[in-house]
Amino acid sequence: MHGLKGTCVSEPLMLQALAGTRTSRPPFWLMRQAGRYLPEYRAVRAKRETFLEVCLDPELATEVTLQPVRRFAPDAAIVFSDILVIPVLLGRGVRFVEGTGPVLDAIEGVQQLGPLPARMDASVIAPVYETVARVRAALPDELALIGFAGGPWTVATYMVEGGSSRDYLRTRRWLYADPEGFATLIDVLVEATIAHLDAQIEAGAQVVKLFDSWAGVLAPRAFERWCIAPTRRIVAALHRRHPDVPVIGFPRGAGAGYAEFARGSGVDAVAIDTSVPPEWAARVLQPLVPVQGNLDPAALVAGGEAMAGEVRAITRALSRGAHIFNLGHGVLPATPPDHVGELAELLRSGTV
Ligand code: CP3
Repeated sequence: MHGLKGTCVSEPLMLQALAGTRTSRPPFWLMRQAGRYLPEYRAVRAKRETFLEVCLDPELATEVTLQPVRRFAPDAAIVFSDILVIPVLLGRGVRFVEGTGPVLDAIEGVQQLGPLPARMDASVIAPVYETVARVRAALPDELALIGFAGGPWTVATYMVEGGSSRDYLRTRRWLYADPEGFATLIDVLVEATIAHLDAQIEAGAQVVKLFDSWAGVLAPRAFERWCIAPTRRIVAALHRRHPDVPVIGFPRGAGAGYAEFARGSGVDAVAIDTSVPPEWAARVLQPLVPVQGNLDPAALVAGGEAMAGEVRAITRALSRGAHIFNLGHGVLPATPPDHVGELAELLRSGTV
């Protein structure tokens, strides 16, 4: 778009980078940039009994989404919600237990899946879309708004295990012992995820991200079938409906599988976790898609020169292609907010 004096009214830096442009500085935002490390988040959280009540209250969720934006002026905001709103949508009981994490009604096998789609109740998570619209209205034009969902594989692990797990053995055993049955669950999740991301885009999300946080526990052939292939179906459906909305994929822990993922899933960008060498990502992934990542969240807890050194190494390694700066995983609750401020300064100054 052209401005009055013929100057370009520029697109958000985040969207430029996602379109494959090597920007003057990498745009940045942080996974879990809203959350417990911020005292103002803890104050809002204290107003409600449960975390899910905050996610499903548009006024509170909007406030919490904007808190890190006010403090740190990142290049993108991510709507405050959770990947487990999909099981909520599917009528599974989901509770977040203090100190334990999420607890769900575990699914024992395919026989329990029959009634799932029939019980989908969109009105339950409609507040998430209301939050997206409110946040978009409150954000300056130069900030991009990100919507998200969990990858079907990762959401399936929570539904099958009944929460977090050490080895994901119930889920992994199921996918080998009864792949057809497991495919039924993944198919339900693919459809629900498409509907959920589509609704976030309709409400104002300009980018969407798929968090496949437990992709790393899948063996290569299982990774292709249960991470790459479902992602491809979701991306294709979204691209058909919204050709201009980029999709970021995050197959956390995929290792060498990141290359297959970048080639085979159809995503517009890949987010790399802390274990991926940025030099490898520059050589193998960046020629295919823009790369997002990958500061160690622990370096952000440490702060100071040690953190700055890591930031410089990552930005240099990825400077020859499109790069969005982020962490390799979410901000840890122990992170001093001032360190996030230092990081934001460093990245905005363009001196890294
Ligand atoms: O700022 C943002 O990045 C947006 C918000 C966001 C949350 N969860 C808020 C949240 C996002 C993008 C997520 C994604 C999410 N949720 C993932 C994928 C990313 C990852 O971390 O791997 C996963 C696996 C979940 C599931 C989940 N939600 C777990 C395992 C937990 C409990 C563990 C924990 O850290 O407490 C949650 C709860 C959760 N989601 C919190 C927040 C701020 C903490 C809730 C609280 O206030 O007590």
